[in-house]
Amino acid sequence: MPDIPGRAAVGTAAAGTATVSTAAAGTAPASPAGSSAAGSSTVGSPAPSDGAGSSAAATTGPGPLLYPFARPAAPAGSQLRIVRGEGAHVVDDSGRRYVDALASLWYCAAGHGRREIADAVSRQMRELEAFHLFERFTNPPAEALAARLAALAPMPDARVFFTCGGSEAVDAAVKLARIAHAQAGAPERTIVISRAPSYHGVTYGGTSLTGLPANQAGFGPLVGDVQQVPKDDLAAVEAVLTASPGRVAAIIAEPVIGAGGVYPPVAGYLAGLRDLCDRHGAFLILDEVITGFGRLGAWFGAEHFRVRPDLVTFAKAVTSGYQPLGGVLAGPAVHGPLTRDEEFVLRTGNTYAGHPTACAAALANLDILAGEGLVERAGAVGDRLAAGLRAVAERHELADVRGRGAVWAVELPPGRTAPAVRDAMLARGVICRPIGTSILAFCPPLMIADSDVDACAQALEDALRAV
Ligand SMILES: Cc1ncc(COP(=O)(O)O)c(C=O)c1O
Repeated sequence: MPDIPGRAAVGTAAAGTATVSTAAAGTAPASPAGSSAAGSSTVGSPAPSDGAGSSAAATTGPGPLLYPFARPAAPAGSQLRIVRGEGAHVVDDSGRRYVDALASLWYCAAGHGRREIADAVSRQMRELEAFHLFERFTNPPAEALAARLAALAPMPDARVFFTCGGSEAVDAAVKLARIAHAQAGAPERTIVISRAPSYHGVTYGGTSLTGLPANQAGFGPLVGDVQQVPKDDLAAVEAVLTASPGRVAAIIAEPVIGAGGVYPPVAGYLAGLRDLCDRHGAFLILDEVITGFGRLGAWFGAEHFRVRPDLVTFAKAVTSGYQPLGGVLAGPAVHGPLTRDEEFVLRTGNTYAGHPTACAAALANLDILAGEGLVERAGAVGDRLAAGLRAVAERHELADVRGRGAVWAVELPPGRTAPAVRDAMLARGVICRPIGTSILAFCPPLMIADSDVDACAQALEDALRAV
C-alpha cells in the first residue's frame, strides 16, 4: 500500500498501536455498546450504570462469540442484546425500546418487522430455498431481481452480478473492471484509485481500497496496484492518471462517504471524476452500498448527483437487511468486452450469488420502498433530522453538522468523546453510531415517524447536557 496523503483516518488512533477499540473507523469503530469510554483503557470496563446496556450482567470472560469491529477482550454480557424490531424501533432483552437511528448498520430502510418481506422469504423457502447460478443454472427470483435492478440502474443497458454483501460487491467490481480491460486488449490497466477516508469493506480487496489506515494495520500485505488520494481533490486523481498513463483500471468512490465519517462531496467533484475517467480511459465505480436504494432521495446516489457510473456496487438497503445480498451493476463499457469472445468464461462468483430466498426478500423490500414512497421520503427525513441537529449544534457548539439526504453526522467539540455521548444517548433510548472519537452518525429507517426523528436530536441534546 502506498502512503495515504492528506488527513489521517477519522478520529482514529495511530495505526499500529494496540488501541483496537478506537482504531476501527469502518462500520463499527470505537467501543461496543455497553462500554462507556474509548481507547485501550476501556478493556474490561464494566457496562455503564446509566441504564442502557443492562441486558445481561457482564461476566469475566469474553465468551465464544468473536464480535466484528469490537474488542475481543470485552466481557460476555457487556453488549446490548437486541431481541426484537418493529418499524424504526428495536427492543433489548430487558424490554427497553430504542429508536434505531442508524437503521442497524445503515441498511434497514424499510424498517424492522415487515411481514411482507418475512412472508416472501417464507414462501420462497418453501418453493426453492436455494440453488446456484453457476453454468448452466438460473432461478426466477434472481432473474426477476436482475431485471428490476437493471431498470432502476443509473446507467442504460446495465447487467447485474450478484454477491452476498458489500465487501464482495467491491471486490467483484474491481475484478470486473480489470477483466473488462483485459478482454478489451488492455490487461495492463490494473491500478485502482480510491480515496481517504473512504470505507469499502473488509475483504482483502475492500480493506486495500479503504482509506482508513487503522482498518489496514496488522493485516499484512494488501492487494497491489491501489493508489489512494484525499477526497475532494481532483488534481490528486489526475496526478495518478498522468503518472501512470494507460495503467488505471478504475476510480472507486462513495457518492457520500459513509462509515469513514459522512462526508458529502464538494460541488462538481463526482462530475469531475467522470470527466477524468472519460479522458483517461478508466472506469468510474460508485460504491453505493450505503447510498443505494433511496438514502439520498433517489434510487442511487449517481442519480442524485447526476453522474453516470460504469459500475455500481450495492448491498444493505437492497433487502433492508432481511437477507444478506449485494452485487454490482455493470454498464455496457464493462460488460460489452466480456461478450466479444463467445468462448470467454467469467471465472468468479459466490456460491450464494443470486440466492433465490435473498432475491425474494429484495423484491419484497423494493415493493415496499416504491409502494410507500420511501425514496421520496428520504429528503423530508433528512431535512427534519438536519434541522434538529443544527439546533443542537447552536446550543452546544458542535464542530460540524453535515450530510445529504437521510444520512447525517455531527462532529463533537474537543472534550467530548463520541462513544460516551453514544452511551448517554442509548440511556435515552436512541441508537446512533460513533465514528472514531469525535463523530456521531445518523442514518434512520426511511419510514421513521417525524416524532422519532425529533427524538434523535432531543436525545443528543440531553446527552450533551449530561456528559
Ligand atoms: C460504502 C461501503 N462499501 C462496502 C461496505 C462493505 O459492505 P459489507 O459490510 O456488506 O461487506 C460498506 C459497509 O458498510 C460500505 O459502507
